[in-house]
Amino acid sequence: MDGEGTSRRSFMVQAGTVALCAVCGLPHLSCKEADGTKAKGPVKSRKKLLKLLDVGEGVFRPTSSGATIHWVPNGEIESELWAGNSSSDMNIVNSTVSSEPIEMTISEFADTREVFWKVRHRRVDEDRWTSSATRSFKTRCPAGESFQVALFADSHFYSPKNRTEGLRNIQECMNAVRRSRPDFCVFLGDEAGVQFVNESKTPSQALARERWQAWRDFMAPMLADVPSFLVLGNHEGEAGYYRDQGRTGSVFLQRWGTIERKRHYLNPLSTTYAEGGENQNWKGNDKSGATGGADEGNCSPLQNYFAWTWGDALFVVLDVHRYTNPGKSTPTVPEEWTLGRAQLRWLEQVLKKSDARWKFVVAHHVVGGSKWDANCKDADTGYAYGRGGAQYARVGEQAKITSLMKQYGSQFFLYGHDHIFAHQQAEGIHFVCCGRPTRVPNRWIGQPGFVEAYGDHRARDPHDFIMDVGYTRLTVGPDKVVFEYIKTGMDPKGAENIKANVGDVVHRFEVT
Ligand SMILES: [Fe+2]
Ligand SMILES: [Fe+2]
Repeated sequence: MDGEGTSRRSFMVQAGTVALCAVCGLPHLSCKEADGTKAKGPVKSRKKLLKLLDVGEGVFRPTSSGATIHWVPNGEIESELWAGNSSSDMNIVNSTVSSEPIEMTISEFADTREVFWKVRHRRVDEDRWTSSATRSFKTRCPAGESFQVALFADSHFYSPKNRTEGLRNIQECMNAVRRSRPDFCVFLGDEAGVQFVNESKTPSQALARERWQAWRDFMAPMLADVPSFLVLGNHEGEAGYYRDQGRTGSVFLQRWGTIERKRHYLNPLSTTYAEGGENQNWKGNDKSGATGGADEGNCSPLQNYFAWTWGDALFVVLDVHRYTNPGKSTPTVPEEWTLGRAQLRWLEQVLKKSDARWKFVVAHHVVGGSKWDANCKDADTGYAYGRGGAQYARVGEQAKITSLMKQYGSQFFLYGHDHIFAHQQAEGIHFVCCGRPTRVPNRWIGQPGFVEAYGDHRARDPHDFIMDVGYTRLTVGPDKVVFEYIKTGMDPKGAENIKANVGDVVHRFEVT
């Protein structure tokens, strides 16, 4: 796809109608605080901070007593992490001198629901410090209390089609999430775009790094404000069928994607939460530099599947790609999609052991789905793209997941990939496709594969099949779960199928 592999520098030039931000220099409209007002931080200080860092601070792996703060220095710098119960009472909790990506854990705040933090940096040969803004995150919600979650799906940030309206829509969606102050955000996948390569560029690990760095830069305001988790999508390039590619078998998107994701984003380790996650002791080949060698990112824990408990809810994130057709072709039939034996066994154990009131299983798409291609136009291309939801609860390996969910009382299957908001039910399980913040191809609504998966939208309650751009907000309490689809922008080509204003809750349902 033309332009998919554009470098960060040319990306910024090609941002077209999206001006470079006067505050932080990134290709969005303007830095805004959570209340929508323009950022107050001194422009000089922010620009200076960016020079010190390749990737600004983000907050990940929230726990009952803290979280992990992550950033990537630009050269060797000294850094101090400050944290406290209030913005006026923070102390240094960690410090380091390094030129490598930094992960610093805050774990001293078991008695508070909100932790304030900031980081300051300076070059080792300079006296003056440059400080980040003071921010805060929420620690684990105790059982019996309510909390909010933002479900943010399929921004396809890297896509050239997003370089006009799409970028502004992502920005507005991020601002809406930040204003809502959820306990955490779950990205449903298809964010960084390691899969796409520019025909004029040779796929490489360096290109994967560009993609991840550009995504982290753009998402920085939200990643610093809201702890997040990332479900791996097909566009992250880490599928089994991307392991060995190219005519000479010299393209190793899976390994490059994993190394660069782990360098730029922190999903939970298998030890972060009691529920665990991937830790199959996989190691890269130290004699094969092309496949990533023995890079510390090229090994378990891969941070690709994991689970955690928050309030009265269990969240289980699955990876439907890595174990599907390793070293072979994309799936030709829905039955080829698989979690792999180890992940499926782990899923059963996690669902079985949890006594949470609510259990959410989250994946980029169902483990099987329809036989249709990506555009749901052709069923004979030999690429079963994994589209659809409840309609395919008994297709392929999804049938096993449906059985496990019923057996162990899991009520919700959340997914992205289809770029629409949809709510369907099968066998007592709510299947929710979580929408999209950027744009929706308006031709999709009438394609036969979409009609097979979701029915004729005109015959449905139109408000549970939505082509408007936005994100899904969950409110989870001990007695009920509320789903709200929040409209955060206008589709550039008017794909909307209902009348709603930006900011509206365009669909709401609750489960008690
Ligand atoms: Fe997508
Ligand atoms: Fe996808």
